[in-house]
Amino acid sequence: MTSEAVADSGFPEIDARRFRNVLGQFCTGITVITTFDDDRAPVGFACQSFAALSLDPPLVLFCPTKQSRTWAAIERAGRFCVNVLAEEQRELCARFGSREPDKFAGTAWHTTEFDLPQIDEALASIDCRVDRVIDGGDHHIVIGRVLALAETTESGRPLLFYRGQYTAIEPEKTVPAPWRADLEHFLTTTTLDTWL
Ligand SMILES: Cc1cc2nc3c(=O)[nH]c(=O)nc-3n(C[C@H](O)[C@H](O)[C@H](O)COP(=O)(O)O)c2cc1C
Repeated sequence: MTSEAVADSGFPEIDARRFRNVLGQFCTGITVITTFDDDRAPVGFACQSFAALSLDPPLVLFCPTKQSRTWAAIERAGRFCVNVLAEEQRELCARFGSREPDKFAGTAWHTTEFDLPQIDEALASIDCRVDRVIDGGDHHIVIGRVLALAETTESGRPLLFYRGQYTAIEPEKTVPAPWRADLEHFLTTTTLDTWL
């Protein structure tokens, strides 16, 4: 463990590179979060800071940087679609993670029942209405109320992000765990000792 110098604010000074390296040890899936802009053009951005938040009521959250143009469009539209990327969608992810003007060029997509752009071949999609926005430093914490859920495939594998690089699950390591029944209970029950 390395101790950090104390800055004028009274809090330890955290080096940006070290922050990225240490937080990069936390492996996540990747989503592309989409909406329509004022001209009805589909817009979106690659987002790893996505999480399930609450089952009752059904809530999710994501954290866009305050500079995100997609967030500005979502704020105006008041709704968004979370597309969970499959391991084959690395190139698509890189495009949506860039600041290219037309990220949807060459991307197959369709409109959902709640009038949101859904990316074809994504593993899952979640249509949401913006419920609340909380300040999160240089990001916003956006809480969304779930309106609709869709699974495009049950056999696909997710694209992962780990230590600043794309990776994927090794198929031979995805054997069902013996405690699967408990996990099922954990994911579907809200009690004092479970979080979702
Ligand atoms: C794998 C990956 C994960 C990302 N996760 C986030 C995130 O959680 N929040 C965020 O604000 N930007 C994230 N980004 C960066 C945005 O996708 C990027 O800044 C994007 O260009 C913003 O575009 P926009 O201004 O069109 O919204 C991520 C990028 C990549 C490649």
